[in-house]
Amino acid sequence: MLSENHRDANRLLYTKKAFIFDLDGVLVDTAIFHYQAWKRLANSLGFDFTWQQNEKLKGVSRRQSLDYLLGWGNLQLSDAEKEQLATRKNEWYLALVGGMTHWDLLPGAYRLLSEARNKGIRVALGSASKNARLVLERTGISDCFDAVIDGNAVTRSKPDPEVFIKAADALDVPPGACLVFEDAHAGVAAALAAGMQVVGVGDPAELGEADMVVMGLADLGI
Ligand code: BG6
Ligand code: MG
Repeated sequence: MLSENHRDANRLLYTKKAFIFDLDGVLVDTAIFHYQAWKRLANSLGFDFTWQQNEKLKGVSRRQSLDYLLGWGNLQLSDAEKEQLATRKNEWYLALVGGMTHWDLLPGAYRLLSEARNKGIRVALGSASKNARLVLERTGISDCFDAVIDGNAVTRSKPDPEVFIKAADALDVPPGACLVFEDAHAGVAAALAAGMQVVGVGDPAELGEADMVVMGLADLGI
């Protein structure tokens, strides 16, 4: 992060009672595994899947992602066929997640989680993934969270604010006192719709609506 932004960053981080972290692409580098598994599925169906298309799937539920993918491939399938494909993609994804360890945490993730805990800031996960608890276990950070709201706990995908509202409720902290960390355009939109400030993690071109954007969590400290 640029030094002239340190003051703004400090203000944003120090004035909040709770941090809500997205998982994939913020704490762990699983965004690449989702991409690889979707690409393999698209290729098996006879069409390609690009990195730019993958950006649109970030933060979006498995089923909704599949609908986007099938749209790009001009395929119309029954619900039963879609269910089969979503399961196949998830099996490929889980095979990649199976090899994860603590070393797969993104730089700065564990330090920021630990600092938040030490400063008495409440911490929640706000993820669209139904595999979130498994990823937390594999990377050894389950104990870092006061609440986990994942894809099993919500009915509406980001950019709907449901996941972040539920996380704030679970922490018993008002939305305005929560700071969200997000790598997805849909996730930034969801956080703003929830009435929260948001730190975008990644490309400023994708995350321009966030209150501030950093390359990674290693750029932040409390
Ligand atoms: C989000 C990812 O965190 O979880 C999306 O950004 C993914 O790419 C979504 O589709 C659902 O994940 P899962 O693990 O339930 O298939
Ligand atoms: Mg993400």
